[in-house]
Amino acid sequence: MVCEFGDDSAWPAFLEARAWLQQGREDLWFVQRGDAWTCEPATSELGIAARQVFALAAPDVTPGGALTLYAPTTTGAPGFVHPTGRPVEATFLAMARVYLPVLMGAAAARRRGRTFTTGHVTQTLDGRIACANGQSQWIGNAADLRHAHRMRALLDGVLVGAGTLRTDDPRLDVRHVRGPNPRRIVFSGAGSALREPTRRHAFRPPGCDVVVGAGVAGDAPPGVTVVPVAGSGGELDVAAALAALRARGVHSIYLEGGSATLSSFLRTRCLDLLQVHIAGMVLGSGLPSFSLPPVEHVDHGLRFAMDHAMLDGHVLLSCWPVGGTAA
Ligand SMILES: NC(=O)c1ccc[n+]([C@@H]2O[C@H](COP(=O)([O-])OP(=O)(O)OC[C@H]3O[C@@H](n4cnc5c(N)ncnc54)[C@H](OP(=O)(O)O)[C@@H]3O)[C@@H](O)[C@H]2O)c1
Repeated sequence: MVCEFGDDSAWPAFLEARAWLQQGREDLWFVQRGDAWTCEPATSELGIAARQVFALAAPDVTPGGALTLYAPTTTGAPGFVHPTGRPVEATFLAMARVYLPVLMGAAAARRRGRTFTTGHVTQTLDGRIACANGQSQWIGNAADLRHAHRMRALLDGVLVGAGTLRTDDPRLDVRHVRGPNPRRIVFSGAGSALREPTRRHAFRPPGCDVVVGAGVAGDAPPGVTVVPVAGSGGELDVAAALAALRARGVHSIYLEGGSATLSSFLRTRCLDLLQVHIAGMVLGSGLPSFSLPPVEHVDHGLRFAMDHAMLDGHVLLSCWPVGGTAA
């Protein structure tokens, strides 16, 4: 099956939604005129009820007419309700299912003075994100790459660990889609990222923030801003790091790995959403997606409410931690 949310015709509307939400507007409609979708503040002429925070309007919408509403559900995974039973265009709805919860989660977090965090991992059927030697490009596919760039465009910051900076030298921009580049952030408790060659893509203008443990000394490469935060035993205090980044204007983060970094967010329950891209591939060895302390019983595992979408034959799972986050 092709990418269910690959249609670009509605993408500009999601960027508009991001801009409105950042301005504090929440009474928004997605409206289709001809083939083009826009996101606009709701008007009284459209007859929106005050409790309807986010509404997707069908092309022939009439006041009080057919709507699909975004709403939190009791299962924990955000969903959509169809009060009238008349569904919105399938391609738009597929995109909305993936990106609207992200936008709404980011807006809600900003309102509460916290940071919305989404982790992303591209893994094999046996839960590996890289070969044993660290080689990982590409387990995913082109549709996943476009999706990752859309996510970068919707959130304030994109974060990787020092290991990924070293192995993959990622550019961390949005070159495959329209939208703003996020702030680049690197986690490096011991400061190994500060000793990386200055030619690293992430260090190029406009540079990046490297989050290090409070006692770490060393000269920052050109383009790097060092952000010291508390920690213990070499581990950064993830919540303190998020607070330090908030003070620098980063209220939402797309965390792209690797395994150690993602695991530290899971372990400290600082992840709001986990996106798992599953490729039809088995490696049988290599780096696992996550590594957490052992548990004695399956009841002690982390549980998630899930939604899914198809990515050109691969699967994208949107996983919402049951019980939410610690922060
Ligand atoms: N398939 C995928 O989706 C995907 C995505 C990204 C990366 N990868 C692959 O994953 C591999 C890299 O993953 P990795 O697990 O080895 O490394 P990583 O998570 O990228 O980086 C680990 C390093 O980041 C710093 N760090 C991260 N969280 C920290 C915390 N809470 N406190 C303190 N420091 C923290 C530490 O740096 P210091 O040593 O400086 O303290 C640590 O050594 C590569 O092979 C890459 O290709 C795969």
